[in-house]
Amino acid sequence: MSLKDIRGVPVSYSDQKAIDAMEDAHICAMSFYGDPIGRIDKVLSEHPDFIMGHCFKAAWLTQTLETRIYKRMVAALSAAEALWDKANDREKGHIKAVKAWVEGDFYGAVQQWEAVLTSYPYDLLALQLIHLTDVLLGDVAGQRDCVARVFALWDEDMPGYEFVLGFYSFGLEENSDYLQAEEMGRMSLAIRPDNPYAVHAVSHVMEMQGRQAGGISFMRDRAPSWSKSHFANHLWWHLSLFHLDIGQIDRVFDVYDNNLRTPHQTVDKYEELDAAALLWRLKLLGVDVGDRWASLADKWEPSASDTLYAFNDVHAMMTFVSDGRTEAAQKLLTANERYIDHATDANTAMSREVGLPFCLALQDFEKENYNSCVDRLLAVRYRTHRLGGSHAQRDIIGWTLLEAALRSKRYDLALALANERCALKTTSVQNWNYVARAHKGLGDITKADKAAARAQSLMAG
Ligand SMILES: [Fe+2]
Repeated sequence: MSLKDIRGVPVSYSDQKAIDAMEDAHICAMSFYGDPIGRIDKVLSEHPDFIMGHCFKAAWLTQTLETRIYKRMVAALSAAEALWDKANDREKGHIKAVKAWVEGDFYGAVQQWEAVLTSYPYDLLALQLIHLTDVLLGDVAGQRDCVARVFALWDEDMPGYEFVLGFYSFGLEENSDYLQAEEMGRMSLAIRPDNPYAVHAVSHVMEMQGRQAGGISFMRDRAPSWSKSHFANHLWWHLSLFHLDIGQIDRVFDVYDNNLRTPHQTVDKYEELDAAALLWRLKLLGVDVGDRWASLADKWEPSASDTLYAFNDVHAMMTFVSDGRTEAAQKLLTANERYIDHATDANTAMSREVGLPFCLALQDFEKENYNSCVDRLLAVRYRTHRLGGSHAQRDIIGWTLLEAALRSKRYDLALALANERCALKTTSVQNWNYVARAHKGLGDITKADKAAARAQSLMAG
């Protein structure tokens, strides 16, 4: 006998309690609370023939993008495949999607989940996986459009609507539709005030619009709830970006030391990613970060030759070059060079087009080969979305380029790049400081003083 889930989507299993328990695990995954895998494992131990349960587990494990979970993902997929003959069309679609993923065809996985969603527009798991994978792959339009294709069919009476609003909010934000993005994010928070993904989407809107003071109070007001979620590290990082942008370096260190510096290896990569991204920004500003790189490099070193996800590799490289770990840096470069010569998975193109050039540029920066760093980054700067992540995360590439342009004394280029950043975000102290430095390099002290004064007044404000 087949039943349906809470949204009326068919499930080829006859125990409603198991289906409801999977929904609880899914809510944990969408709201970044609790242990979704632990919950579904408990369900599966009592219901080993629950196909959709295995599909959920395998699908959710895809999102960690770490080699250490790979075996568990493959085992969950095998368990689902063993039940293929009993699976309905929807479940077969989920199985095919994870199978494509395991084979390294991330784009194929998205297509399979897309086909499921087209037939079952209330399949919230399929929608979530398409959206999140599009973020990982840097498919910017896809992050928004996967939600747009089903959104008109949803309303607030449908369970999970607040999560759909959160996905839509982030997708709209990444496509620069800030007004609608903020509206969707705040609608989500009206239904579920502790939805970390919606907090995240609204904070991205504020980041892109340069609303630093508003961003700080928005994040701090809501911190009592989101700081308990599994998304907390990344949200602390967002808070630190607002402080960084207006020159509050002490606050940035507070966030780093209290929230991004767990002494032991963390269970997910977010903390290490965000910690590296934050320290590199401080390095670009010439701030002494003490011994912080060393403990972070210890965490990254075991995955130096993973070649699993280019986005991870560039952050690993930031820590290796900054902590003087030339062996680990070389190991990462060699592994990537071999990998792009032989592999055919979806990450290969990401590594070839952006990951490896950026890693080499980081190495150049550390060796003070600033001209080479500039040339490498200029060549890829409008392709960097292929690396995955968000505009706010990839901003580190443009920022590195600008700092390298200044240090290589290519002041006309530096001024052009600084002006570009100011046009996009006019409230950033850092951006005006860059304009001032570029004018100074070109010998225009009047304009340099004017830009520096603008930075000072923004800092005072
Ligand atoms: Fe973010």
